[in-house]
Amino acid sequence: MKVSVSVLSNYDDVSNAVLKVNKTSADFLHIDVMDGKFVNNLKFPLELVEKLKSISEKKIDMHLMVEDEDLIKEYASYKPYYLTLHVEILKDNTLIKYIKSLGIKVGLAINPETRVENLSPYIKDIDLILFMSVNPGKGGQKFKKSVIQKIKKIRKILNNKVIISVDGGVNDKTISYCREAGCDMVVSGSYVTNSDNYEEKILSLK
Ligand code: DX5
Ligand code: ZN
Repeated sequence: MKVSVSVLSNYDDVSNAVLKVNKTSADFLHIDVMDGKFVNNLKFPLELVEKLKSISEKKIDMHLMVEDEDLIKEYASYKPYYLTLHVEILKDNTLIKYIKSLGIKVGLAINPETRVENLSPYIKDIDLILFMSVNPGKGGQKFKKSVIQKIKKIRKILNNKVIISVDGGVNDKTISYCREAGCDMVVSGSYVTNSDNYEEKILSLK
């Protein structure tokens, strides 16, 4: 299981958290960008993302909870390894194609209440699906088990090119549901970063 660590819950001392992630076996650093419109929170301005990218030794897994196309393009200019947009904001696949043209792998995030069928028109163009197991906007929420049925449904029709990741409330208990559903990757925030020993928590998810 690949593990991507979210530092959202460490916003006040986020550089320090990123340096701690560097010292672990985490596969990615997950950066949650919120625009104050798609979700209420407003976090990780462009300058901060630039700084975190410069100090991170991990590949960047950027999750954009952002509506505005021009703003999405600005974040894309930092060239993360994965850039994940929400399916709820898309009208067609133009933006996905644009991001791919920059040589960035594209993910699509889907909220707990959104039907999996909404992903269908885009599946052939993407590299990752990020199933939200909480309502997006903040860390430390409870894992919604209903996401597992959605993952199982899509796993059957996916080719192996598209990776499945889960985001929200992932810990040493809920990881077993993710494994059973056939996920390739999990995003974990507070479970890892509230600990004094990041590596121990990451290993319990791998
Ligand atoms: C929620 C974010 C998640 C969150 C995960 O909007 O997308 O990445 O930070 O944090 P935990 O693991 O604490 O739920
Ligand atoms: Zn996230």
